Amino acid sequence: MRESREPLVYIDGELYPKSQAKISVFDHGLLYGDGVFEGIRVYDGVIFKLKEHVDRLYNSAKVLRLKIPMSKDAMTDEIIKTVRANGFKDAYIRLVVTRGVGDLGLDPRKCGRPSIIIIVEYLEPILGRGEREYGASVIISSTRRDPVYATSHEVKSLNYLNSIFAKIEAIEAGADDAIMLDSRGFVSEATGANLFIVRDSKLYTPPVTAGILPGITRAVVIEIAGKLGIPVIERDLTPVELMTADEAFVTGTGAELAPIGFINKLPINDGRPGPIFRRLLEEFNKVKRDPSNGVKVL
Ligand SMILES: Cc1ncc(COP(=O)(O)O)c(C=O)c1O
Repeated sequence: MRESREPLVYIDGELYPKSQAKISVFDHGLLYGDGVFEGIRVYDGVIFKLKEHVDRLYNSAKVLRLKIPMSKDAMTDEIIKTVRANGFKDAYIRLVVTRGVGDLGLDPRKCGRPSIIIIVEYLEPILGRGEREYGASVIISSTRRDPVYATSHEVKSLNYLNSIFAKIEAIEAGADDAIMLDSRGFVSEATGANLFIVRDSKLYTPPVTAGILPGITRAVVIEIAGKLGIPVIERDLTPVELMTADEAFVTGTGAELAPIGFINKLPINDGRPGPIFRRLLEEFNKVKRDPSNGVKVL
């Protein structure tokens, strides 16, 4: 349910109404995309996979040599308190840690203290509900996924220009989203979600070496598939394997599970969600509402 009250945003220990939630224009998060973030969902008052998200945030920060000025336990408490203050039982949390306020140069040592921001809002699945009649239409983007030897998306940083280029190309082509290839030309992921395909009743998904973010939803889907007895193979996939798949879908906190119906206007099967996708979605909808998979806060 969408909430009508203005959400409260946590910034460095204080809660502000959304319209007054502001940070400095000298923050390197704004000036350079220097920072890290997580997107997390709350289902029925339970923060789904909270520990996994907090762990990933600290790992991303570690690679950036960004010292988060708070322990993981304290961060977890602040997230819980912010969700409670908002009172939204179904919500999306955007957790951001910026490099902090510095000068106009790149040098992160000039930045004082990293800023911690926690936004809690309602968010529809970004590619529509998985139960839709036809899958999303995507293009294969001409922008390649940042390689693992550069600004790798294994690190969930505030620098998303690589995905934004692909998203703009998708919008200009009249598509819902883009699938990005890695620097070698193998399939990587969507702009903000991981990709799976089905061939001969088996699930395939690109490995982390293809420049993907190792998604938490991806891991949940792999686990569900294991329980349902659906074989999962992590390996490089070619664009042709993607275009001729029996089924294709993306996974992510923002997207949840969303079927792909068309790639470069070519239908995947008949363009409708396939049987394996529908089984996985049904099970995911149970798993996401199981309190043992998160932290109950409301
Ligand atoms: C680039 C990218 N890939 C994949 C994902 C999916 O990750 P997760 O399932 O952890 O949300 C995201 C975030 O949602 C992302 O931004």
